[in-house]
Formats: sequence, C-alpha cells, structure tokens
Amino acid sequence: MPEKPNNSLTEKDLSEALSAGRNAISKASSLEDLKIVRIAHLGDKSPLALANRKLGSLSVDQRSHFGAIIGNYRSDLLGLLTQKQELLTLERTQTIVSNEKVDVTIAAVSRKGGGVHPLNSTINTIVNIFISMGYSVEEGPEVEAEWLNFDALNIPQNHPARSMQDTFYIDNAQSGIVLRTQTSPVQVRALLNRSLPIYVISPGKVFRSDELDQTHTPVFHQVEGLVVDKGIGMPHLRATIDHFAKQMFGAEVQTRLRPSYFPFTEPSAEMDVFFQGKWVEWGGCGVVNPKVLEVAGIDSSIYSGFAFGMGIERTLMFRNGVADMRDMVEGDIRFTDMFGKLE
Ligand code: DAH
Repeated sequence: MPEKPNNSLTEKDLSEALSAGRNAISKASSLEDLKIVRIAHLGDKSPLALANRKLGSLSVDQRSHFGAIIGNYRSDLLGLLTQKQELLTLERTQTIVSNEKVDVTIAAVSRKGGGVHPLNSTINTIVNIFISMGYSVEEGPEVEAEWLNFDALNIPQNHPARSMQDTFYIDNAQSGIVLRTQTSPVQVRALLNRSLPIYVISPGKVFRSDELDQTHTPVFHQVEGLVVDKGIGMPHLRATIDHFAKQMFGAEVQTRLRPSYFPFTEPSAEMDVFFQGKWVEWGGCGVVNPKVLEVAGIDSSIYSGFAFGMGIERTLMFRNGVADMRDMVEGDIRFTDMFGKLE
C-alpha cells in the first residue's frame, strides 16, 4: 500500500463516503427516500463516483489500490440498497393488502332502491295487455279544449258535469279550456288524427274539483279504450272486456255489463267484475255513439266501434286492497314498496 495517497483521494474520504451511504440506506424509510439515497450515494455525482473518475490520473499502483477500494465500497452499498429495496417493497405490498382487506363477515349496508308507483305499474300492466292484442297507445293533453272534453262527446251545454263545481276551468268558465275531466277526449283526438281502423288505449291523468278524502282525489287516472272498425258491436266489447278482466284479475274472474247511460255511447253499460266474492263496479263502456263518429267525419253507416274507460285508483283499491286513496298521492315510499312492485 503506498505510504502517501494521492492528495485528491484518501482512504479516509472513501470510508466516510461508505459509512455515509450505509447510514443513509439504513435510515431510508420509504421507497421514495431510497430513490434519493441511491442518487446521492451511488449516482453519477455521488462521492464514490466522483472518486472513481479521478482514478485515471493516478499512478498504476494507486489506481489499482484505490480502484479496488472504490469497487468494494460501491458493491457493498449496492448490495445494502438492493436488500433495503426488497424490504421496503414487501412492506408496501403488505400495507396495501391489509388496507384493502375485505371483511366478508361485516353486516351488509342495504341500500334502498326506488319502486315504480303502484298507479304506474297498474297502468303498465293494462297497457301491456292491450299492446299484446295489437292496440296502440294514444296520448292527449291534460289541459284540454272544452269542446273535445264535452261537446264532441255529445255532452250537452247544460250538463251538470260542466259546472265549476265539477270541472276545473283554465282562467274562467268562458275560456273554453279545461283540465280534462276524463280520458274520453282522447277518443275524439284518435278519431280526428288516425286512419281507420282504430285500436287504441289511452291512460292518463284526469281532474275534477273534488276534495281529497278516502275515496276521492281531485287528480286521478283513467284508462280509455277505443276500437273503430267495420262491423264492430257489443259482442266484441264483451269479449274484449272479458279478456282484459281475466288478464288483470285472474282466469277465474267473471264480468257482467249493466245497462247505463253515457252521452258518447249508445247503448251504454257499466262493467262489473266478480272479484273476491262480490261484484265490483269497474268502469263504463258502450258502443260508440254514431254522433261522435260523425263529428270526426267518419261514415257511421260503414264504421262502428266500442269504447270503455275505467279508473286506475279504483282498480288498485279493489285489486290490491288499498283502503285509502290518500295513500296513493302522499308519496310515502313504504306504500310504493308494498304495492308498486305488484304487477
Ligand atoms: N269517461 C267516463 C267517465 O269518466 C267513463 C267512460 C264511460 C268511458 C263509457 C268510456 C265509455 O269510453 O264508453 O265516467
């Protein structure tokens, strides 16, 4: 070993560089730290790298002497750094795994989803029954011309249903615009807009100036049906109602028609279903009054039709045993949960 080292390289400096590197590696507590340590102690500008660069200017003896020391120290640091790197990587993986651990024994948090409102699910059921028979859905506005809601349906000017006690007028009783009191004006719209033959079903909201109580609500829903074709009469109405009722209430249900009066049908009937041991009134129906067809310019000597209409709230009451109509409008989701998924 040379007695006097080259003035720019000393064993002491090199061993200090080694211990500084060892110290830094042992203190590094994260992979990020270790990256900085690697650059500082093994990078291009680290003390040992700079020392290595000086070897070229040394004598052959000194070069091999210091070269061996630097080489040993660098591989010493590299070995320690690699070990530390493996250790920190393992620790990181363990932290991730334990943070992401799923305890499958913890009770599930149940999230409540919404349900279809029972009125809508009942409407959907009805519409599907008729669509499967080839009917189309016809829609009309809730704010309707008084003429379509009453006159075109052969309801006379002085009919009590037109009074302010029963009908909501827009602005005033002379405006000629009402909130429709029934879905029947959609019949007239279908007659005016569609080409024959007509097979339509029309669900929607209707309005009457009633107080909200157990059996009344000022806003409720009806479903209207209308067929106009050649040779249509009472037997077709009967058979359609019967099929409809069986689909809605079960194959064992019976139906009956009782003579009644509606200005837009002639003859007219109330339809009843025998459900859970008693006859219940379900809606109105009849053979379309030729006057209604004529309003739409349809030749009633060639075409005839039938129509029917029923209340959805009423249907829900007796079909699903809902006792109070107010439950249908108050928006309590327990009600929707209970009845809304029933189809
Ligand atoms: N629109 C009637 C009402 O609200 C129900 C009705 C009866 C509709 C007979 C019809 C029908 O289509 O033919 O009371």
